[in-house]
Amino acid sequence: MQRSLILLKPDCVQRRLIGEVLSRFEAKGLQIIGLKMLQVTPELSRKHYAEHVEKPFYQSLEDFITSAPVVAVALEGLEAIGVVREMLGATNGLKAAPGTLRGDFSSSRQMNLVHASDSEASAERELDLYFRSEELCDYSLCLTGFMR
Ligand code: PPS
Repeated sequence: MQRSLILLKPDCVQRRLIGEVLSRFEAKGLQIIGLKMLQVTPELSRKHYAEHVEKPFYQSLEDFITSAPVVAVALEGLEAIGVVREMLGATNGLKAAPGTLRGDFSSSRQMNLVHASDSEASAERELDLYFRSEELCDYSLCLTGFMR
């Protein structure tokens, strides 16, 4: 099992696509084990995008990610990191294949709807940035005993 940190970026929230995106992950069989809406601060942005802080586009990326609330999602599943990245498609929505989330809903490199961890190391680091360990729920499907 792997865990991955997903961010539904401001464009996803503003366009009311939260449900659409979460339902695709659930339909795929990935389990939501943590979920919260928050406003990213410049400090959190610099930590999250640490590897991009020196790049020319960083200030624009920070301005965008801090502009409105985001939804942080912790997902768990078999090979979750790679599966989610496949479901997102290429970083640039213009290049993302139809059928992927960005291919279907984005035409931009910056407003590309969703961020997802790209490795086990970044998943661990990013999950720590957005969730305390007690905010992540370890659960299995167990409703049958409650059917009345
Ligand atoms: S990736 O996902 O790491 O393979 O892609 P990368 O191209 O390295 O992009 C990393 C994040 O930076 C954003 N980005 C940009 N924002 C604004 N302008 C430009 N030119 C630009 N290029 C890349 C991109 O949306 C990625 O954000 P996340 O949140 O990781 O998807």
